[in-house]
Amino acid sequence: MLRVDQAGEYGATRIYAGQLAVLRRNCPEAKLVARMAAQEQRHLARFDALMAERRVRPTALQPLWNVAGFALGAATALMSEQAALACTDAVETEIDKHYGQQLRDLGEDDPELAADIEAFQAEELEHRDTARAAGAQEAIGYPLLTGAIRAGCRVAIALSKRI
Ligand SMILES: [Fe+2]
Ligand SMILES: [Fe+2]
Repeated sequence: MLRVDQAGEYGATRIYAGQLAVLRRNCPEAKLVARMAAQEQRHLARFDALMAERRVRPTALQPLWNVAGFALGAATALMSEQAALACTDAVETEIDKHYGQQLRDLGEDDPELAADIEAFQAEELEHRDTARAAGAQEAIGYPLLTGAIRAGCRVAIALSKRI
């Protein structure tokens, strides 16, 4: 669980880094993204610490998520500000489902980890809602774009659990 969660939060920081590299500095979307990126940084730091504490190795796919995350962020931001927000909408929708499943799987087994996942899940949902409120659904091709990104997230999650 820690391996896939750390991979996901790492990917999130890379997506937002890609978006911030492209978005005009100080445009409203860049400000939203910067705030969300800071939260992803905190999520990542927490999973990094838990992994070190519990001697879990990171996913071997980290170099791939580095490049793929940045590319996804940059590509969506190049399409439009709304597409960048639609990317957040899609990613956070899958992460919410993923964390929800983990919490069900954990049950009462690991209250320390469950508390972190619960707190992060709430923030991811807030990211999704922030993106929607800022116009994610106005992105051209929103259903296709978010459908493709969500499918990509599911593949990334499945791979990071195994490799
Ligand atoms: Fe996160
Ligand atoms: Fe997030």
